[in-house]
Amino acid sequence: MLYRINVALGLALAVLFALLVSMRVDNSRPNFEVNLGDDMAYSPAYGSFEANPNFVNGQTMQRPVPGTIARGAQLLHFESTPQDAQRAGEELTNPFSPATEEGSASADRGALVFRTFCIACHGPDGTGGGPVAQHGFPPPPSLLTGKTLEMKDGQLLHILTYGQNSMPQFAAQLSVASRWDVVNHIRRLQQQAANAPDVASTDAALAIETASEDSPSEEAEPPTNEPDSNEESAPAAEQEPAAEGEQENRSAPEAENRILQPESIAPSETESQP
Ligand code: HEC
Repeated sequence: MLYRINVALGLALAVLFALLVSMRVDNSRPNFEVNLGDDMAYSPAYGSFEANPNFVNGQTMQRPVPGTIARGAQLLHFESTPQDAQRAGEELTNPFSPATEEGSASADRGALVFRTFCIACHGPDGTGGGPVAQHGFPPPPSLLTGKTLEMKDGQLLHILTYGQNSMPQFAAQLSVASRWDVVNHIRRLQQQAANAPDVASTDAALAIETASEDSPSEEAEPPTNEPDSNEESAPAAEQEPAAEGEQENRSAPEAENRILQPESIAPSETESQP
């Protein structure tokens, strides 16, 4: 009798051991469950653009309540006039202080924005010799000297938001934060130019040559801003980039590596509020 019980227990043990070995837990699959219609565990998820019977308008994604202001949003209630550009200069404060780490990170992001949206006209260094200007578009003034240097940050943001004469507006392409980033990049370019007035050691001869040739027409241009003054300076703008172009090609790979680092490509949220 005892013997039989022992055999039965031994067999049971062997079966249990076999089950233990054969029924490995597969962590990649859900455990076996019995669900008796408990929807708290399985709530139905609607796709963003899916029809939805739970809302009056039948849509899943709902618009914000009218008058909603996103937290931290900077509201720009200006008109596209020079007067309002002035007002923007007085009322708007740059959210990034240049001396801080945040400020320099902002300028880094702005460099990428500038490279993408601005150099076609303003040239890589902001002096205005971009390829579009070389092909007949009214050449923009240098961003390193003159008016841009004197304008307040808010005024630059106004120009980027609403445009100015033949300068297009970028409200649709760039978020407000990205526009501040590019303003900070321009400030950095200006600072670099101010700190190193006579950098061009190798191209010094060329630079001085072209500068002295161009200076009369360049100085005459900003105050008058008439179409014929643009025509006058167009040939001058054609000479300049030739010299700058060489300079640019030589430093291009370095500049690209610096600018195209992925972590610098986080130019904020893309809300398209003007
Ligand atoms: C299609 C060519 C073009 C593009 C692209 C462009 N600009 Fe301009 N920009 C101009 C022209 C032309 C002017 C001069 C407008 C005027 O006559 O008042 C100008 C003027 C400016 C001014 C004011 C300069 C002053 O002294 O009045 C700023 C600042 C400026 N641009 C920044 C930018 C930035 C930043 C970008 C990129 C986000 C950009 N621009 C893209 C053509 C362009």
